[in-house]
Amino acid sequence: MIELRDLCYVRLGTRDLAAAERFGTEIVGLQPIRRSPDRLYLRSNYRDHSLCYFRGEASDQAVGIELKDWNGLDGAMRELAAAGRTVKRGSREECADRAVEDFCWFADPTGNRIELVVRPHDANRRYFPTRDAGIKGFGHIGLNTADAKRDERFWTTLFNIRVSDWIGAAPLLRMTNVHHQLALFPAKAPGVQHINHQVHDVDDIMRSWYFLQERQVKVVFGPGRHATSGGYFLYFEGHQGMVFEYSNADRTIIEDDATHRPRQFPMEAASFCVWGSKPDIAEFRS
Ligand SMILES: [Fe+2]
Repeated sequence: MIELRDLCYVRLGTRDLAAAERFGTEIVGLQPIRRSPDRLYLRSNYRDHSLCYFRGEASDQAVGIELKDWNGLDGAMRELAAAGRTVKRGSREECADRAVEDFCWFADPTGNRIELVVRPHDANRRYFPTRDAGIKGFGHIGLNTADAKRDERFWTTLFNIRVSDWIGAAPLLRMTNVHHQLALFPAKAPGVQHINHQVHDVDDIMRSWYFLQERQVKVVFGPGRHATSGGYFLYFEGHQGMVFEYSNADRTIIEDDATHRPRQFPMEAASFCVWGSKPDIAEFRS
């Protein structure tokens, strides 16, 4: 069993770092902390960064997850190899690029690139964005899956990951006591399906709704309230069509792992939003 601590970062390829920076800072409300001709690092909380854009193809993406045991990388690599995954260790240069002390990477059964990191760097200055979106930090991601049952088994047997609820075939998964940090949505190709940032409260979500409308940013779902986590939410489309979400779903804590009963909700709009908002997001409709 590989013990994971928390989500750490997302890395997204882009051919237009300037556009990624404009959207990430002026619209999402992240803090740019380092730029180079082929890198942009964005901060959202106590971590050095939680989103990195690099010069590359938009389909080139990776998800970084922190290992619980700082000395556990060799053991995790052995377990992944025993489970049939090809595992590679990051070079010194690749570690520096991610602001981590060490990492390895593998592809999940769908083909998503996952990086297991140890001792990711913390911010030595606090998060201080130019736009006050009320962001508390990086919350969770939706991840594409070619076979939800198979990938749920992969994540829940090899790692300390548990199912909080299902919507249709899509499992909402957690590695800590918040409702979910990883949600697997059936899709045709690997990739990050959406990126969530947690905000303080519903006022932040409604303020952003007006803010996004004024700037003609495409809102694809919400404002609404999730049936699963109880969180208020707002989804909007960003650079290269990536869906970003604000929610305060992390306030719903799974209090007792042993007795928590995952609920099965049907795949329909009301399972995502109890207020009646309809998603304009393909993965939330099939
Ligand atoms: Fe979400």
